[in-house]
Amino acid sequence: MITAVMKKIFFAGLIFTSFFVRAQEINIIPQPVSVKQTKSNAFIIVNAGTPIVAEGDDFGKSINFLNDYLDRFYSIKLRTSSTTLGNNVIRLSLSNPFTTVQGGYKLTVDANGISISGDNANSVFYGIQTLIQLLPAPGSSIRLPVPYCEITDYPRFSYRGMHLDCCRHFFSVDFIKQYIDWIALHKMNYFHWHLTDDQGWRIELKKYPKLTQVGAWRNGTIIGSFPGTGNDSIHYGGFYSQEQIKEIVKYAADRYITVVPEIEMPGHASAALASYPFLGCTKGPYEVQQTWGVFDDVFCAGNDSTYKFLQDVLDEVIALFPSKYIHIGGDECPKTRWKTCPVCQRRMRTEKLKDEHALQSYFIQRIEKYVNSKGRSVIGWDEILEGGLAPNATVMSWRGEQGGIDAAKQNHYVIMTPGDWCYFDHSQSEQEDSLTIGGYIPVDKVYSYEPVPASLNADQAKYILGAQGNLWTEYISNPGKVEYMIFPRMSALSEVLWSQKQNRDWGDFEKRLMVQFKRYDLWNTKYSKAYFELKTSVLPGKDYNGVLWKIENKFNKKMFMTFAGSDSVWGYTGPQLIQKTVRARGYFNLDNRTFEVRQDFNFNKATGKKITLANEPSKNFPGDGPFTLVNGVWNERGITRTSQLLGFLGSDCDATIDLGTMQYISNVTVHTMKDLSSWIWPPKYVEVFVSGDGKNFTSVKSSDDFKITNGKNGVIHVNFLLTNTRYVRVLAKNTGNIPSGYPGAGYESWLFADEIEIN
Ligand code: ACM
Ligand code: ZN
Repeated sequence: MITAVMKKIFFAGLIFTSFFVRAQEINIIPQPVSVKQTKSNAFIIVNAGTPIVAEGDDFGKSINFLNDYLDRFYSIKLRTSSTTLGNNVIRLSLSNPFTTVQGGYKLTVDANGISISGDNANSVFYGIQTLIQLLPAPGSSIRLPVPYCEITDYPRFSYRGMHLDCCRHFFSVDFIKQYIDWIALHKMNYFHWHLTDDQGWRIELKKYPKLTQVGAWRNGTIIGSFPGTGNDSIHYGGFYSQEQIKEIVKYAADRYITVVPEIEMPGHASAALASYPFLGCTKGPYEVQQTWGVFDDVFCAGNDSTYKFLQDVLDEVIALFPSKYIHIGGDECPKTRWKTCPVCQRRMRTEKLKDEHALQSYFIQRIEKYVNSKGRSVIGWDEILEGGLAPNATVMSWRGEQGGIDAAKQNHYVIMTPGDWCYFDHSQSEQEDSLTIGGYIPVDKVYSYEPVPASLNADQAKYILGAQGNLWTEYISNPGKVEYMIFPRMSALSEVLWSQKQNRDWGDFEKRLMVQFKRYDLWNTKYSKAYFELKTSVLPGKDYNGVLWKIENKFNKKMFMTFAGSDSVWGYTGPQLIQKTVRARGYFNLDNRTFEVRQDFNFNKATGKKITLANEPSKNFPGDGPFTLVNGVWNERGITRTSQLLGFLGSDCDATIDLGTMQYISNVTVHTMKDLSSWIWPPKYVEVFVSGDGKNFTSVKSSDDFKITNGKNGVIHVNFLLTNTRYVRVLAKNTGNIPSGYPGAGYESWLFADEIEIN
């Protein structure tokens, strides 16, 4: 018997699939293992007319996700059916497993409809994500063409994660769900939820209600870049009830995403200590922090009551989160209090621990043992390597790759999140005008990331489970800013994690990214447009006669240039010679939008002149070479514009400038930075030497008078009696190892310099 509904299905299928419909190009991120666009035809999904047929398993999660997506973005609703009817169907089924990393699926679109078969229901869900990307973006609301194709796909890494810090700023349950949806749409499978820190405790604990009554709230937040220009004095906070957490865990599980909770210990514990002062070494009083950074008051590692408390917390956490992994932090724990706490010191004696690093290791191992006894495993930041790794711990490598390398060599599993590629709180634009923590990680840098460090052999490489994008939210206070920071970098990372290494191709990704931008538009997200920016560089002029400003765009568009204060506009034909202090502007038009860049040039006697350096800068911060210091461009945006900065780790910036002729001078100004949370210290002093012959130099003056000019940027002026000279040596002295009580204590400090002025 053919029912009316069935007739309608047949009818729809006949009508729409028999017409020739030109298919859109296939642009999938992350790039599948193999994609064949078999014809230029398309299969048409018809509102209410194309049923989803589930064969052999429960594909409810996939069906719900697809239907929600179609409904939300295309106003299309599909029915499910348990029998195959005709060929106008989306068929979900199981295949024999064909991959080692689970997640393999095959997707076929042809005249018979759409078929997704996966090695399990989770794999079919990944096929659904691919199907979603085969849809036009944006689409028509009636009929959705899906190009004929054959796709075979499976992931490269088993851990494909995104992190979100909900402590520095709090995000609503609805937004967390949105974030989880984005993770799903990128075929990622872990959500690392940072739930406790100095600035807020965000998870309800039944046994310790003060953690959220007290610990979830702070009485203000610093304004602007750390250390801030003031405090907003606004009572701020929030937490997730256990019911909300269950809801989020289920929401994630419905998308095959594991939520890994992070409960920080022994450091980053101010909110817990403020709630229960017995947990600290000094017993308080403590407060929920209103500023960023690292704080000396941490969990007392001597008292058994600390461990009792944390075990109770972990009991409730383990009951709420089915994740095999429980993240216990372990990063940035100053040992200051432990050194003077009699209870911590007694613990060190009774346990025969040689120093406070060993005490931290004892702490982590004791907690690990407890977590293991509950059938779970711990993840810790790479500091847990110090003093000896807990036997079963997985290491999350954030201070570069080294922690991951060391852990893999000790046969420990590793998740890579190195700061130079995976910290999405860093700027992705060189022209960033919103507040960020600094750094510069454009989308192509993320795309270039290789999670398996080159120094590992094949056996060690197996310990690299994957990688994760981290989003710390000191400077991210609202959902729009989250979107701005993660997109498009998260899309690049998804390809790093999912796609086969040999399938990664930046040029091809760029082409697909243009379609991905349309998907972001469809999702109504506030993604970063940094990708479209003009690139600029400053080059030495010929014969030291000035500097050249070069501008470029990726789109081969005609560019124009103007100078502030003048009406003339000219087409850009090549690097523009600049010989005076001026604000220059370059721009181009694309799709009815103008993308522009402005640059201030500041001229003085040193600008464009010959410069040499006694010490090479760090290879991480080489700027544009020594010329960076005399290119007329002042860095005014922290360490965002890395082409405009030289960074010296533990060494001095020691420059000699040849003014070309004998000249009278009486002032040298070094433009530098102070950002103690990033281990960047201003020079200890700046000393100026002069010489007529470039060989014999005389010291004329030194100064240690550092003055902040803007945020993290500052200057040291050295003023002296009018002096006639041709060569000027400027020594900006590195301050040395970082003193105790500051972030990075004991390590070499960074010295940054971006310009030397001579007047
Ligand atoms: C970290 O960024 N402190 C793990
Ligand atoms: Zn103590």
